[in-house]
Amino acid sequence: MTTASAPIFDKGLANTIAAESEMSFIDGQNGILEYVGIEIDTLARKSSFEEVVYLLWHRALPTRSQLDQFNTSLRKEYDLPQGMWDMVRQMPKNAKPMHALRTLVSALALYDETADDASIEGATEKALLLVAKTPTLIAAFDRHRKGKEFVKPDFSLSLAANFIKMLTGEAPTDTMAKALDVCLILHADHGLNASTFAGRVTIATLSDMYSAMTTAIGTLKGPLHGGANEAVMHLLNDIGDINNVEPVIKGRLERKEKVMGFGHRVYKAYDPRATYLKTFSKQLAEDTGNLKLYEMSHKIELIMEEAVADKGIYPNVDFYSATTYYSLGLDIDLFTPMFAMSRVSGWAGHCIEQLTDNRLIRPRLAYIGPHEQPYIPINERG
Ligand code: SDX
Repeated sequence: MTTASAPIFDKGLANTIAAESEMSFIDGQNGILEYVGIEIDTLARKSSFEEVVYLLWHRALPTRSQLDQFNTSLRKEYDLPQGMWDMVRQMPKNAKPMHALRTLVSALALYDETADDASIEGATEKALLLVAKTPTLIAAFDRHRKGKEFVKPDFSLSLAANFIKMLTGEAPTDTMAKALDVCLILHADHGLNASTFAGRVTIATLSDMYSAMTTAIGTLKGPLHGGANEAVMHLLNDIGDINNVEPVIKGRLERKEKVMGFGHRVYKAYDPRATYLKTFSKQLAEDTGNLKLYEMSHKIELIMEEAVADKGIYPNVDFYSATTYYSLGLDIDLFTPMFAMSRVSGWAGHCIEQLTDNRLIRPRLAYIGPHEQPYIPINERG
């Protein structure tokens, strides 16, 4: 007979290790992030999103022929079943892209006869399909809501370049494709963040990959998680002018309101992804001659540093990704879908890890309501 150990109450699961992973390592005290042991900064400078996805899923960098083969398999999956294109056309044009994406990813299961195959092989096939089709779904919905014709995938392009072409109708410059590719690398995986945890909970019931991705997208959307990048941009727009930064930010702190894009459950030092994105957004600002947003962001950072750095609150990945995406000309409500487009690779990798050594994820609850209450008939209730 096994004796159950006494459950511990851990609000927000802040001190609970709920799974093992070989994908990303975070040292929150020293601001270090590695994918399979390789520093994120090195990957951002030297790798490609496709290579990083291979690394995360296979725990090793690919040889040239393995990468070529992986790219070929991924590109074969860029297109959507005809029914999905038709479905996008039926969607309300004023719907928010994250709602559209969540619905469309869920709907992909309707066109997959083996959707419920939760074997490792089945899940691996679906992982590839989901990473390849998510950019197509985001771009298709954006074109539809703007009353533009769909741009079909270009199988000769990388995932990042193909996405920009499907979104804008034009092949991107190398600089733009590289910029987006780097953003995808930086967002691919990040430990047991809320959306990854949600996805693992779903797949742990032996549900299916589409359900797990749908759960994860819904979880990412919140402003305390991936939705923060959109909230940062709205904050910058509301501030409007560099002279307003100080009163607005100090006012928020005095009212105990959160400043979006700051703070992290694990990092108590500078998020290394933010370090990279800060340099990147400064470069983009200088290249485009539009320094206003970068300067406002930097001023927010200085005020926050003075006020709350002693609490370990620094910019997180969402802070400078907002200005980066904005400088790239992306609509604000596409920022969180961009996060999802990358993170689907991490979610899928985690689901496969979960299936490899599965156990239902089912924490306990501390019931704090009453006991032994009488049942009062309805006509006798006051
Ligand atoms: C992501 O987990 C991941 O890995 C996520 C992510 C990923 O890659 O998947 O890195 C992506 O989700 C980044 C986080 C995006 N969210 C935001 O930028 C929203 C703003 N930040 C927060 O609300 C907050 O920092 C969280 C949600 C990110 C973390 O929340 P915690 O760990 O529950 O911390 P908390 O809210 O309990 O805050 C602790 C203290 C509080 O002060 P005290 O009550 O102790 O005095 O820090 C303060 C908070 O008020 N604080 C902030 C703040 N964040 C925390 N104060 C002002 N502004 C902030 N942003």
